[in-house]
Amino acid sequence: MTIRKVGVVGCGLMGSGIAESASRAGYEVLVREVSNEEIELGKQRIARSMDRAVEKGKMTAAEREEARKLLSYTAEISDLADRDLIVEAVVEDMDIKRDLFARLDALCPERTIFASNTSSLPITDMAAAVERPDRFLGIHFFNPVPIMKLVEIVRTIATSEETLATVLEFAQSLGKETVHAKDQAGFIVNLLLVPYMMDAVRQLERGAASMEDLDRAMSLGCGHPMGPISLIDFVGTDTACRIAEILYDEYREPRYSPPALLRRVVAMGRFGRKVGRGFYDYSGEVPVPLPV
Ligand code: CAA
Repeated sequence: MTIRKVGVVGCGLMGSGIAESASRAGYEVLVREVSNEEIELGKQRIARSMDRAVEKGKMTAAEREEARKLLSYTAEISDLADRDLIVEAVVEDMDIKRDLFARLDALCPERTIFASNTSSLPITDMAAAVERPDRFLGIHFFNPVPIMKLVEIVRTIATSEETLATVLEFAQSLGKETVHAKDQAGFIVNLLLVPYMMDAVRQLERGAASMEDLDRAMSLGCGHPMGPISLIDFVGTDTACRIAEILYDEYREPRYSPPALLRRVVAMGRFGRKVGRGFYDYSGEVPVPLPV
């Protein structure tokens, strides 16, 4: 089966990146957000990213125009009924995701493939909420989606070969490299990345070094593009904390448990770069460490 029309549910950090990448690859993309305010924010995110891609010489102004024309937005879930593939990128909450997929299942024709961009929840539990588990799988992108090359593909015991082949082709047409991961919390990347990020916060709590030095050490010493504390701010402190909680729930291993300091930063509404404040303050030219 060939994908032409793509639906993206949720236009936050991940959804906007997925919508942008799909439109840049020539797909007709319909983005669903809950309100006109959220649609406006999502549109701005996509516009900023595409402008940056043009500035960086990754696309021409004409290609940006083409991609923009392929993007449309709606607040009505029923508008997604003509899609070939729907990628869900809403909040990491199983009940919300199951409810969404059950509603889409009732609306969409048999051919529509459902995919979740969850980074940590079991795909099988979502697939069990629909009548088409053979047409259901996980497609996990990385932030920033237009730049990061990887997509984790997660099939369940019910996913059909045809669905898998179609989605692999779709991911590759976006210029991504794919890896196959078992349907277990954290897949591959978060299984390894989350303990690293949580450990960095634990070392900060213990006073091993300042947050800037923890970050500088891992970027300069290991060649990482950003250090672990900056990376948590980049992912979103709330999202990182939520993913860690989900992994801890599943494995009950201390290395996954979110440290108290991370919970406190989240409790103060310091959700990271997306809100301008996390472990660092992003309002100036360079990030400035905030009290922890
Ligand atoms: N579209 C396409 N390409 C773009 C672009 C855009 N909108 N914006 C920038 N680029 C390109 C640039 O041209 C540049 O390409 P070249 O290397 O070919 O020159 C490259 O992307 C890097 O861009 P910049 O130099 O402008 O940006 P930077 O050096 O400040 O890097 C960063 C920014 C890519 C975010 C980098 O810091 C990085 O890779 N950080 C780590 C990100 C990471 O680890 N992400 C995974 C998070 S975990 C996750 O997502 C999983 C989860 O479930 C939580």
